[in-house]
Amino acid sequence: MSKQLILALSKGRILDETLPLLAEAGIVPAEDLGKSRKLLFDTNLDDVKLVVIRATDVPTYVQLGAADLGVAGKDVLLEHGASGLYEPLDLEIAKCKLMTAGIDGAKPARARRRVATKFVDVARRYYAEQGIQAEVIKLYGAMELAPLMNLADEIVDIVDTGNTLRANGMSPRELIASISTRLVVNKAAMTMKHERLKPLIARLAEAVERRRVGAEAAAR
Ligand code: ATP
Ligand code: PRP
Repeated sequence: MSKQLILALSKGRILDETLPLLAEAGIVPAEDLGKSRKLLFDTNLDDVKLVVIRATDVPTYVQLGAADLGVAGKDVLLEHGASGLYEPLDLEIAKCKLMTAGIDGAKPARARRRVATKFVDVARRYYAEQGIQAEVIKLYGAMELAPLMNLADEIVDIVDTGNTLRANGMSPRELIASISTRLVVNKAAMTMKHERLKPLIARLAEAVERRRVGAEAAAR
């Protein structure tokens, strides 16, 4: 096993919040990620490289050992199943909620509820646990449109400010899970590369802790 560490980062919203945290932990890409079409980057640390990939692909890269560690939303990890991964650290960024939602005032009346979501496995598990029969319809975006177009009775989606739901005449219903971004580590790498991974995880944990202490002080 190579001594090099590959860290897989989720593109998009999470990346914007991950880079400052990595910098606070002393990990800085060798070039501007936003300005490049490259996918594999050197960092200021000789033995740490970054790959920037679709958020939904991060658990797969880490589980199969193509990357040693990764940064992914808990929503994506819940949907993936994330077996074969350790989740040693909550990075406490990109916080949001995974919720059911429906049209304002409408009661989910059907015996068999139609649910639109990109989190199909999470939704199936959730409705089964609730004892609710659900037909889960896979969508890849704009879930909020589905009830308005009578494609579904309810959606399962990310809610943060609630603005997207409100703008579409919808309201949140039940909380499925509180979401934040997690550090995940390949199980074999955790053993084989422990000497190198341990200080890296510790530096990230310290950066998260410094932010928490700072936020608590600012709130007082
Ligand atoms: P893709 O383009 O791969 O389908 P996406 O559009 O879901 O991904 P982003 O919107 O960048 O990608 O979101 C990635 C992650 O950020 C989500 O998996 C979730 O963990 C978190 N997230 C999504 N929406 C919000 C939000 N409104 N507020 C805070 N965090 C969010
Ligand atoms: C996410 C999510 C919701 C929205 C929730 O979408 O899918 O639509 O954020 O946030 P809010 O409660 O603050 O409105 P995003 O903006 O990432 O766009 P996407 O549909 O491309 O994922």
